[in-house]
Amino acid sequence: MTDSKKNILLGVTGSIAAYLALDLITDLRSEGFAVAPVMTRDAHHFVTPLSLQSFAGREVVEDFFSLPGRAKPIHIELAKWADVILVAPATADIIAKLSHGLADDVLTCAALASDSPLVIAPAMNDKMFKNKFTRENLKRLEGVGAKIVPPVHGHLICSDEGMGHLAENASIVKAVKAALS
Ligand SMILES: Cc1cc2nc3c(=O)[nH]c(=O)nc-3n(C[C@H](O)[C@H](O)[C@H](O)COP(=O)(O)O)c2cc1C
Repeated sequence: MTDSKKNILLGVTGSIAAYLALDLITDLRSEGFAVAPVMTRDAHHFVTPLSLQSFAGREVVEDFFSLPGRAKPIHIELAKWADVILVAPATADIIAKLSHGLADDVLTCAALASDSPLVIAPAMNDKMFKNKFTRENLKRLEGVGAKIVPPVHGHLICSDEGMGHLAENASIVKAVKAALS
């Protein structure tokens, strides 16, 4: 993977907001970024690899064990390629994993193997977002330099409204640019 543009590894996780990653990819690409989507296993319930691949214009990585014959493991290749790792939408689960250094899939392994900035845009039920474990996990991530793009107040599927809706694309793009500057 070589590219003169700035490269974004976009982690897409198992949130109801995962479909919003498609529009986010369009906005990131229109800003000149190359976007390589990496899906968690549960993201498949919410958005298809084909859609992500079509919007990104490049292969979507889902699972390192289904890619035999590579000289280097895909998570190491992606970690080297990425100028920034953006997780949007980020579930409570991925936030907990990243904040504790767990590494059981391509996204978490790539994050551990990278020195590039980490930008996280959470999306979840408002109670999950306000939960003390989630708050502590986000603080832990901020403490090691991750940039959090807070969710906004808006429509949630589980309740009428609440704080947990994925931030606007403009805020996420701005955070990515700030992380790179
Ligand atoms: C309909 C539905 C919507 C969900 N939306 C969210 C969400 O927006 N945010 C979240 O943190 N978890 C959400 N979950 C729970 C996650 O899908 C679950 O924690 C999953 O294991 C996350 O996996 P991942 O972090 O590896 O992608 C949802 C579950 C269901 C069934």
